[in-house]
Amino acid sequence: MNILAIESSCDETSAAVITNGKICSNVVATQLIHTQYGGVVPELASRAHQQHILPVVDKALNDAKVTKKDLDAIAFTKGPGLLGALLVGTSFAKSMALGLNIPLIAVNHMQAHVMAHFIDEPKPSFPFLCLTVSGGHTQIVKITAPLQMEIIGETKDDAVGEAFDKTAKLLDLPYPGGPLIDKYAATGNPHAFPFPLPEMPGLDFSFSGIKTSFMYFLQKRVRENPDFIQQNLPDICASIQFTLIDILLKKLKKAAKETGIAEIAVAGGVSANSGLRKSLQELGEKMNWKVFVPAFEYCTDNAAMIAVAAHYKFLENDFSDQTVSPMARMDF
Ligand code: KG4
Ligand code: ZN
Repeated sequence: MNILAIESSCDETSAAVITNGKICSNVVATQLIHTQYGGVVPELASRAHQQHILPVVDKALNDAKVTKKDLDAIAFTKGPGLLGALLVGTSFAKSMALGLNIPLIAVNHMQAHVMAHFIDEPKPSFPFLCLTVSGGHTQIVKITAPLQMEIIGETKDDAVGEAFDKTAKLLDLPYPGGPLIDKYAATGNPHAFPFPLPEMPGLDFSFSGIKTSFMYFLQKRVRENPDFIQQNLPDICASIQFTLIDILLKKLKKAAKETGIAEIAVAGGVSANSGLRKSLQELGEKMNWKVFVPAFEYCTDNAAMIAVAAHYKFLENDFSDQTVSPMARMDF
């Protein structure tokens, strides 16, 4: 059984082929055009998807040594994401499925981030918790079976990836700033500049207050010393990263305690953060958790995760018809 999967929710155009549950190709074209604007420009993202989608799909089929007539279904990201960007992948998938007369499978992007844990071994067993952290979302998800998921905690304002990226912007780092904060933090002291943690009840998160306190802190220090940022970049990045990770892991610890679940996974773009990966492993050892961290290539947006989610949907005969349309906001 061969499924072609397409991801186009934000600024990565990606296509993957999964054969009998095994990923055979995963091609990702990252849109570099947004760097000069300091963030993703939706209109430019849609245009870039239009340019990339055909070569990316062709390469994914070639890499997997699969032809169009070998395909049994076409999967695509239905949402959440940028509507214009999603429309490109959705229209392409619908046309291809119509032309080949094969089923269509609509996939939720956030569920797919979690399903990235079913690409390689070791796979988590059920139930497990997944901290899903990306540019647009911050969630604690309880998973009881493939694609059976419930959000038990989430951000009430900004996503943690957004907090990384917007703080990086204040530091004059180019978009996306998350990986650069990670890079500079590696040689800095995480305790150089302590920040107060937000108070948020239950398992929910809030990142807008901490983002503002980073901003006030930087404005004050730069007023006192205009070279403050250049002179202290590693320590600033390490302290900011430490604070953001601390917020995430405190809630994850609480979720594990409340649910009694000790299989803990992390997913989404921010799970590529080396500080988060290391701190989660350390916390896992201390708490006796079994920790699952995805391979780097499956942290940020990719079609392999869409393909693996589609594989499970195919097994359930969970198909969409030609009336399906993308959704910028989408629950599980
Ligand atoms: O999952 P993703 O590729 O796209 C969305 O669905 O949003 O996540 C992108 C986010 C961006 O905010 C980016 O800065 C962040 O993931 N990110 C990182 C790292 N790599 C990617 N944040 C911190 N450290 C990293 N190493
Ligand atoms: Zn994503």
